[in-house]
Formats: sequence, structure tokens, C-alpha cells
Amino acid sequence: MKKIASFEDYKSRIKRVLITKEEIDAAILEAGKEIDKLYDGRPILLVSVLKGAFVFMADLCRAVSVPCEIGFMCAKSYYEGTTSTGVVNITMDLDHDIKDYHVVIVEDIIDTGRTLSDIVKLLKSRNPLSLHVVTLLDKPDRRLVDFKADLSLFTIPDHFVIGYGLDCGEHYRNLPYIAEYDAAIAE
Ligand code: IMP
Ligand code: MG
Repeated sequence: MKKIASFEDYKSRIKRVLITKEEIDAAILEAGKEIDKLYDGRPILLVSVLKGAFVFMADLCRAVSVPCEIGFMCAKSYYEGTTSTGVVNITMDLDHDIKDYHVVIVEDIIDTGRTLSDIVKLLKSRNPLSLHVVTLLDKPDRRLVDFKADLSLFTIPDHFVIGYGLDCGEHYRNLPYIAEYDAAIAE
């Protein structure tokens, strides 16, 4: 991928809007209601895996009405060839002991499924009261590890996407919508 050369170059790599801000806002309101229904007044801990999910986390936590704490972690998964070893390297861990919490993992996108399946394994080993996974986007065509979120807001085709927290080379996280990235322009 070539470095961004100019503002024009930066803009030209935003190929097309896939999901508008309005569509995201509406889906998050619904997701908040579903979470409220599921937990029925019980307190929850929303856990987001940095960095991609930080925007989704900020909006989702304001769409739920049940008592809610938030936590963040940073993780890298290790693989032998294409198979997950189940070993997750935590570069920044949660500061909650989750055994007394109903945990909701808040993810930006599930692609191969590797990262999240490792994180779920790890967090389950810490014996939370319950564990659910909410993802903004799901790319099921790309799955290499069998993994399904409990709640997925949008299913998208196999395109590399940017915006609303998702990056390409650390850029575009601040776009208020989800767009397709034009990889051909960047070659
Ligand atoms: P996986 O499911 O373990 O393959 O990894 C998912 C992670 O890869 C996500 O949390 C994102 O950080 C990143 N990722 C996957 N697909 C995309 C994309 O289309 N745009 C930006 N980041 C992506
Ligand atoms: Mg991510």
C-alpha cells in the first residue's frame, strides 16, 4: 500500500459508502434495546478490543439503559500456519476481575474469526457470570475459524472497509460512516 500523498489521494481511496451514519445510528438504538431486554436490569460490563471498536463502544454504551461499566483490552493472537494456537498475547489487559460480571464483548468486525474466538476462550476461562459478543460488522465469507456473534448489526460482503473506528494504515477511523476502501488506487 502506497503512503497517502495528498488530501485528494486520501479522499479518492474512499470508494463508496456502504453503511450511512443514519443506518448505523438506527441499528445501534435497536441493539441497545436488545441488550436491555436480555439483561433485564442486571448490570453489565462492556468490553471492547482496541482500537477498532472504540467508536462503536462509545455509541453502544449510550444506547443501553441497564447499569453499565466499560473496559478495554488490547490483544494479539498467535497462529501455527492458519490454525489458532488459542494463545492470545494481551498487550493491555482488562482492569476488571470479570468473575462477578455479565460481560458483553463489543467488536468492530469479525473477519477470519480468529481474534475473537481466542478472546472468548480467554475471557471464559476467567469465569464471568455470562459472556456475549456484539459485533457491528460481520464478513462471514472470510471466516477461517468457526465463530458466530450473539448479535451482529450488519453482514457485509468480502470488501475491506474503513470508517466508524475501522482503519487502513491507521487512517479513516474518524469517518462517521462505513465505506469500502479502494485498494486498487492505493497499489
Ligand atoms: P479476525 O476476525 O481475527 O480476522 O480479525 C478481525 C480484526 O481484523 C478486526 O477486529 C479488525 O481490526 C481487522 N479487520 C478485519 N477486516 C477489516 C476491514 O475490512 N477493515 C478494517 N479492519 C479489518
Ligand atoms: Mg478490531
